[in-house]
Amino acid sequence: MAFISSGYDPSSPMKDRITDIGPRKYDEFYPPVISKNKGKWLYHEYLQPGVFVHVAESGDEVYSVRVGGMRLMSIGFLREICEIADKHCGGYLRFTTRNNIEFMVDNKSKVKPLVDDLMSRKQPGGCYKFPVGGTGAGITNIVHTQGWIHCHTPATDASGPVKATMDVLFDDFVNMRLPAHLRVSLACCLNMCGAVHCSDIAILGYHRKPPMLDHEYLDKMCEIPLAIAACPTAAIKPAKMELPGGQKVNSVSVNNERCMFCGNCYTMCPAMPLADDVGDGIVIMAGGKVSNRVHAPKFSKVVVAFLPNEVPRWPTVTATIKKIVEAYAKGANKYERLGEWAERIGWERFFEKCDLEFTHHLIDDFRDPAYFTWRQTTQFKF
Ligand code: HEM
Ligand code: SF4
Ligand code: SF4
Repeated sequence: MAFISSGYDPSSPMKDRITDIGPRKYDEFYPPVISKNKGKWLYHEYLQPGVFVHVAESGDEVYSVRVGGMRLMSIGFLREICEIADKHCGGYLRFTTRNNIEFMVDNKSKVKPLVDDLMSRKQPGGCYKFPVGGTGAGITNIVHTQGWIHCHTPATDASGPVKATMDVLFDDFVNMRLPAHLRVSLACCLNMCGAVHCSDIAILGYHRKPPMLDHEYLDKMCEIPLAIAACPTAAIKPAKMELPGGQKVNSVSVNNERCMFCGNCYTMCPAMPLADDVGDGIVIMAGGKVSNRVHAPKFSKVVVAFLPNEVPRWPTVTATIKKIVEAYAKGANKYERLGEWAERIGWERFFEKCDLEFTHHLIDDFRDPAYFTWRQTTQFKF
């Protein structure tokens, strides 16, 4: 396409430059009923999965309809969202912290037409475009990352496994049958962008091979001390290397016995790539939460050391997650989050009930704090 200028002048880049203006202020986009009753809400209720009402002191009501969002969306899809908001909601809508979409109406009579309209819209392949759900004690959207769509450090994809997992868990998106809400998150490497370290169930991309070293370019592309300092296990040290041509270069050497494949060095140094088609895969973690309700927030714990990347539907990963969800649904008490259940019954019972194999990989071996994760008591169940 031929170049079309926006008015920016590359020969004087600072001319007419606007900067530090920040985001638009949130209340510019409030629906009128929200503006009017802000800070004066009395109570709320779930009417059905995905639909809830807030009632204000004034008696005003706002009905919210939450629908699943795939997070990665085209402009065409966003325009369809706007068209729905124009048709039913006076042009207003919002996105949630888990990337669902919420349409709000100020009268109960407007709810059913909205829900019917949303549920009638499907992708050409047959998927719901706007499945209503994601509320209460069910499974809502999966917080996830870039994967092979856009990042250079992933050990797995994000959008693909999330679609595969939500297909398997779909019934729990449109229902509220679980003991408490169950948060699933995914990160495609252990930078853990997002919420994997604090979710009920987490899907995490994992490498199993040490980095390759491009000695020819390493000193040219990398600040060597940064790569050395990037390693949590001190597996990297500076080294002089001889190239096949006989030339001596500054580089690094990696002690493979100390490397645990975190990929941090590659983040610092492009000459240390480590992605691998069969080495890479997925770790499953469980039992994290962020709320303070009853128990303090918890980190999620590794419960499956490795599952392969099985493109495009990740059947082993989704089957394992389904197994954990069903064991939790059957075993936990009302209001009990997955981590609270596992701690109450004991992790040895958690592995038994979820039918998961316990391997030596799950035993913490990272520095002094590892000791506190071992069992210094005779209390355990056979
Ligand atoms: C009906 C009678 C008794 C009851 C209900 C009773 C109950 C208890 C309880 C609940 C504990 C604390 C256990 C724990 O938290 O780990 C305890 C500890 C202890 N009891 Fe008793 N007890 C009784 C009689 C006795 C007698 C007669 C002796 C000694 C002659 C005794 C010696 C001890 C000792 C030494 C401990 C400390 C054990 C430790 O710290 O490991 N108790 N008892
Ligand atoms: S989790 Fe890792 S691979 Fe995924 S987007 Fe974040 S940095 Fe990139
Ligand atoms: S992958 Fe991680 S553990 Fe291995 S050498 Fe690089 S920084 Fe160290």
